[in-house]
Amino acid sequence: MSDDRLGQHHHHQHDQAHQTFEPPKSLSATSHVKDFQEYQRMYKQSVGDPEAFWGQIAEQFHWESPPDGAFVNYNFDTRKGSIFIKWMEGAKTNIAYNMLDRNVKNGLGNKIAFYWEGNDPLDQGKITYSEMLESVCKFSNVLKSLGVKRGDRVAIYMPMIVELVVAMLACARIGAVHSIVFAGFSSESLSERIIDANCYAIVTADGVWRGSKLLNLKSIVDKALEICKEKGKPVNKCVVVRHLSPDEEEVTSEADKDVEDCPVAKRPCGKLKIGWQNGRDEWWHVLMSQASKDCAPEWLDAEDPLFMLYTSGSTGKPKGVLHTVAGYMLYSATTFKYVFDYQPDDVYWCTADVGWITGHSYVCYGPMGNGATGVIFEGTPFYPDAGRFWNVVEKYKVTKFYTAPTAIRSLMKFDDSFVTKYDRSSLKVLGTVGEPINPEAWLWYHRVVGQENCAIVDTFWQTETGGHVITPLPGATATKPGSATFPFFGIVPALLTDDGREITGPGEGYLVFKQPWPGIMRTVFGNHERFETTYFKKFPGYYCTGDGAKSDEDGYLWITGRIDDMVNVSGHLLSTAEVESALIEHDAVAEAASVSHPHNIKGECIYCFVTLKEGATFSDNLVVELKSMVRSKIGPFAQPDYIQNAPALPKTRSGKIMRRILRKVAVNDHELGDTSTLADESVIDTLFKLRPAEA
Ligand code: WTA
Repeated sequence: MSDDRLGQHHHHQHDQAHQTFEPPKSLSATSHVKDFQEYQRMYKQSVGDPEAFWGQIAEQFHWESPPDGAFVNYNFDTRKGSIFIKWMEGAKTNIAYNMLDRNVKNGLGNKIAFYWEGNDPLDQGKITYSEMLESVCKFSNVLKSLGVKRGDRVAIYMPMIVELVVAMLACARIGAVHSIVFAGFSSESLSERIIDANCYAIVTADGVWRGSKLLNLKSIVDKALEICKEKGKPVNKCVVVRHLSPDEEEVTSEADKDVEDCPVAKRPCGKLKIGWQNGRDEWWHVLMSQASKDCAPEWLDAEDPLFMLYTSGSTGKPKGVLHTVAGYMLYSATTFKYVFDYQPDDVYWCTADVGWITGHSYVCYGPMGNGATGVIFEGTPFYPDAGRFWNVVEKYKVTKFYTAPTAIRSLMKFDDSFVTKYDRSSLKVLGTVGEPINPEAWLWYHRVVGQENCAIVDTFWQTETGGHVITPLPGATATKPGSATFPFFGIVPALLTDDGREITGPGEGYLVFKQPWPGIMRTVFGNHERFETTYFKKFPGYYCTGDGAKSDEDGYLWITGRIDDMVNVSGHLLSTAEVESALIEHDAVAEAASVSHPHNIKGECIYCFVTLKEGATFSDNLVVELKSMVRSKIGPFAQPDYIQNAPALPKTRSGKIMRRILRKVAVNDHELGDTSTLADESVIDTLFKLRPAEA
């Protein structure tokens, strides 16, 4: 932890924007929570009597049997023993049953669960709740036939297609634990996650078009599985969705000649060649054509694991954040209902990839838990042009839309006509997530996209929290651009000083939570100690988010950003350590340090300092090589923007790199503050001189 980031005002915050926006009148009349008093009343109950609050919500779900002990039981204080959090322990349920069978039984069988919009505007499909149930049952049987058992981990590395959701719900139905890896991670990152989770099988696709780029996913998986084998953790089975249509002569196996059995359209891929390992690799459509559509759900304990999802850790090694069945089900569905003010006739679209937590909670589980109709979008905001989002909004008459500030910032650079030429009158709620939103982007979203008729919900949360924790409610909360406003039901936030005192009234501090909510993570997979140290050690008795926040004179919360050594690039959290370990794998590099640097579109980007080995020379060529090194080790989204030569790094006498100073060098700020702990001050001048011209 480097505490020096507290108090350092975040670049996104401009005080000019303390303007307040009342909830749209049209929304307040029909919404679940009609005004701020109602929010306050419900909030009070949720934190004062969690059992009554969540117990009533639980009644809408199916339970095979009720809890056999306390509704909630926990310890948040390391001084009193090990940290644990349990909701409804002993109750038996199944989340896939609740997403599918329950909705079908309630008459939603013919309702569309998802519209699928391909990368190419001509590719589209849709699937109803009954069809989804059938596909999920079939794939559950497929997984069982491959030997997947309750508790086994299954890796998923897929594009944004319906089969991705089918695969996750099939795991959930049979009690297998899905571990989805965003299909933008490299082979190496994928293998690291498969090995850590000790996955039995993986589900993937042949390839995918992203914009005008063709990605060969299967070849990335092949390389990853090769690494897993070398490291003694072979994966037994690899199921491959044939998403692209190979040309006749490209057929790679007997299986390839079979009928199409995919509910969605496909794009030709020209010359995509994929490898095939008999015995290990299986075509999705072949297995599905042989599978029975009857599969009884496995009744799981409320506290059995549902899924794990890796998130960057400040040490560089990703953490497998583990969520459990019942609490996550209640929390994802309830936040979805209230934060997007879900109504049965909504068409809801979250643009996040299912490979991130936002896609888990708000493409899949939250909406399906409410029987909502969602959109799954395979493409990018810029293909075929910068009007694509609004084109899709018009096409499906989207009512609730959820995206990231980085997407908004990159789209607002284009002429407003890319937005205004499409009909957006269906829109009612516009959400953002992933990073602080700057007031300028907030106002553009509100004015241009929402035509000043929509509620904007800036939702703060984390992979660890399972769902929104600080957020406005569309019909109830007056918003201020850049503020995530107030806690969701069940959330008790506090701001702490560095020595752990709670700040009352306006002020800035570490954002922590004082009691658990159903959706909070339960552990780091295979490393409970790391869970305790990362989130509970610094301030005993509190869950520590790792973010800083300010509270203003009206009690509004403003997230100021990470306080640890994490960089938030376009809403993707990365640790500086993981970037550094990729850099030092280059032969020319002796030492590396990376820090966060402000960026107009991405919010933050990565700025690296490299010290070269004797005899190596710094050149443009080397910069290119180092950038591509990071791309291939971690993934394209992790590519540093700036790499600078650092003959020496600023260090303390004990040899610790002083990142606070490097962050100043990166932005050319000579106000260094206290440098008395620096071992050798002369390195600083050199670093300022060697800053790249473009930075
Ligand atoms: C940041 C994404 C400000 C924050 C759901 C957090 C935000 C990290 C916001 C979690 C927001 C997310 N305002 N910052 N509305 N939403 N963050 O785990 O630093 O990928 O700790 O979960 O993103 O990122 P993660």
